[in-house]
Amino acid sequence: MRIVLVGPPGAGKGTQAAFLAKNLSIPHISTGDLFRANISRQTELGKLAKSYMDAGNLVPDEVTIGMAKDRMEQSDAAGGFLLDGFPRNVSQAEALDEMLKDEGMKLDAVLDLEVPEDEVVKRIAGRRVCRKDSSHVFHVTYTPPKTEGVCDTCGGELYQRDDDSEETVRTRLEVYHTQTEPIIDYYKAQGLVVTISALGKVEDVTGRAMKALQRQEAPQ
Ligand code: AP5
Ligand code: MG
Repeated sequence: MRIVLVGPPGAGKGTQAAFLAKNLSIPHISTGDLFRANISRQTELGKLAKSYMDAGNLVPDEVTIGMAKDRMEQSDAAGGFLLDGFPRNVSQAEALDEMLKDEGMKLDAVLDLEVPEDEVVKRIAGRRVCRKDSSHVFHVTYTPPKTEGVCDTCGGELYQRDDDSEETVRTRLEVYHTQTEPIIDYYKAQGLVVTISALGKVEDVTGRAMKALQRQEAPQ
């Protein structure tokens, strides 16, 4: 399956993507994680991306689309993928459509995670991610690691993302409403959107997401 995950910052896209990708045997491709990996390797791309990310703004399309395309062209993504954080505006969605059309492929579903704003603020405030791999995500009270400050998955140090400050989160939410939400209508016009509530236990949300994706795959 080729799936796009969409939802506000802190909705749980990365958390759910880890389980969904495993259940569906497809790679989890997060543009945010790719940028953070570039930042920790101190690449030119990382330096450029950091200046936008720290302000809560989108990294320019010229850079983002190329990076996402390179990742989708890797062999593990030939049979499908789960995109998390891409596309993030209508021009990225159009570029993705073009890219897939050129390969004779199409998306199967756009999974829209709905969470009220007060809850995303709480989720972001307590989030801790792993320095070695930012796709390893925890929360100080909701999903704490076994040992405080240490990643359960790889033993890396847990830290608070630079863009998780109160002020940057406000900008990220605004950018989500103005630039990213319009892609939901764009994909609704293609009949691809399935919306679920992302409230409740992580495993319950995964169950809801799997059911919704199965319905989308085999419409009645
Ligand atoms: P990105 O890394 O994609 O950030 P985001 O979209 O703002 O989303 P988050 O990662 O903050 O949240 P999430 O939904 O993954 O939630 P998580 O699972 O961690 O992008 C960062 C930046 O990179 C952007 O601002 C932009 O600058 C740039 N960028 C990235 N892609 C781009 C693109 N395509 N174009 C341009 N720029 C781009 O969960 C949050 C917390 O909640 C965690 O602590 C988790 O443990 C907890 N949690 C999760 N589920 C539950 C639950 N069910 N109950 C309780 N707690 C839960
Ligand atoms: Mg994420």
